[in-house]
Amino acid sequence: MAVWPIRKYGDPILRKKAVKVESFGEPFQQVAADMIETMQAAKGVGLAANQIGLTHALCVVDVGLIDEGAPPKAFVNPVILQENGKEVPYEEGCLSIPEINEEVMRKERAVVRYQDLTGAVHEQECDGMLARVLQHEIDHLNGVFFVDRLSALRRKLLSKKLKAIAEEAAAEARERSKNAPSAGS
Ligand code: CO
Repeated sequence: MAVWPIRKYGDPILRKKAVKVESFGEPFQQVAADMIETMQAAKGVGLAANQIGLTHALCVVDVGLIDEGAPPKAFVNPVILQENGKEVPYEEGCLSIPEINEEVMRKERAVVRYQDLTGAVHEQECDGMLARVLQHEIDHLNGVFFVDRLSALRRKLLSKKLKAIAEEAAAEARERSKNAPSAGS
């Protein structure tokens, strides 16, 4: 088990579409366990794989923060089949966009199809906080941030802060490449 550093807004992997998970073997189980540990260490309610620099179509949700006592859950290859109900506002944040919280409109219910860690397929109609979190995380797996869903005016008002976060992301990327073992060593 390991806690991974979280990639920030501006890191190119956060704009990439995730790749379908086909293999549910030990390396994948390790990734899922690390993501749950990383999410909990960061006190997040959800985390998508590209937020730790991986391309798996996988997100995890700390369902215990929504339903007391429930264990954290992995959603593999999740897709939204249907969004239902009315659009409701809720103030969202994101581990990849520190210190920005904004009201985002989303549908109040969503039917989600996903696989569990054994590969079994499930379909679930979610509402409330779980519907909110899954819509946010599935957006990540499509390269979309919650700030993309704000009005042009709100985004403009945030542009300075977002630029500063993207500069931080670029500095972290330079640091990673410096520390990476060079070829042949
Ligand atoms: Co997020």
